[in-house]
Amino acid sequence: MIADFKGRDVVSAKDFKRAQLEELFRAVDDLEKHHGSLEGALKGKLVALLFFEPSTRTYSTFQIAARNLGMKVSGFSDAGGTSVSKGETLHDTIRMFEGYGTDCFVIRHKRMGAARFAAKIADVPVINAGDGSREHPTQAMTDLYSIRKAFGRIDGLKVGILGDLRYGRTASSLVYALSNYDVEISFIAPESLQIRPEVEHFLNERGVTAKKETELDKVIGGLDVLYVTRIQKERIPDPTDFERVRGKYEVNLEALKDAKPSLKILHPLPRVDELSPDVDATNYARYFTQAAAGLPLRMVLFTYVLGGVS
Ligand code: CP
Repeated sequence: MIADFKGRDVVSAKDFKRAQLEELFRAVDDLEKHHGSLEGALKGKLVALLFFEPSTRTYSTFQIAARNLGMKVSGFSDAGGTSVSKGETLHDTIRMFEGYGTDCFVIRHKRMGAARFAAKIADVPVINAGDGSREHPTQAMTDLYSIRKAFGRIDGLKVGILGDLRYGRTASSLVYALSNYDVEISFIAPESLQIRPEVEHFLNERGVTAKKETELDKVIGGLDVLYVTRIQKERIPDPTDFERVRGKYEVNLEALKDAKPSLKILHPLPRVDELSPDVDATNYARYFTQAAAGLPLRMVLFTYVLGGVS
């Protein structure tokens, strides 16, 4: 099963089957139990982190993961300080770093499809760290791992996905990954930010039950998981559209009054005003644990893709 990962690109959550995800999650469990067991496993390998868009969690966890594994790290977290600002293309940037001996690329880009494009150019694996509003597969792996850890299973759960489902790439990738499991999904969003047709079509083809709602209070009482997302102001083309939906949802203690005591709230972060800090101290909150899980998950993923364990 590890062999399924070796040398491959991680561009879309659609590309990973349930058994492969489960194998990855078991290895993350092992790493969490035996901290340090992968220390130095990829000594001497070189990763290029090419972040053309801002990031706190994804950049940092890939960087720390690489260093924990003994890898050398190159690249940038702000393309403004590179020759991209002079007009250098993604194609040429990839070719340059490949020439410096890069063994793996991790790319975040505002353009949809940028990671797939990079994967066609590079001879080494490319990991998509977020491409526009389309996908963020390693976040989806982290999300699923967090759900599995909270409940001991994913099958049978009712999952609500709230917020900006149209422009939020974590929502799309989560849906693709969840489609491997027997779950019921509620998409909770204003009409203008509802899940994109191609994502809905994919779910339909997989036979996953999903419904659309505009109000959280209609579904909150039945949910096991509430996945909250930020409205992606930077991706909504018309600022007046953003103003119309701004502040539409705020998950706070009042909004959770009918929630099951066992409800778990996830959020890929960063949050703005859609998730109140009042929730942080409750048993519902899993988002900081979820963010922390991104580190061991990305360590294991690197070792699988670059063949550091057998
Ligand atoms: N979840 C996530 O992608 O966060 P960053 O944008 O900070 O990397």
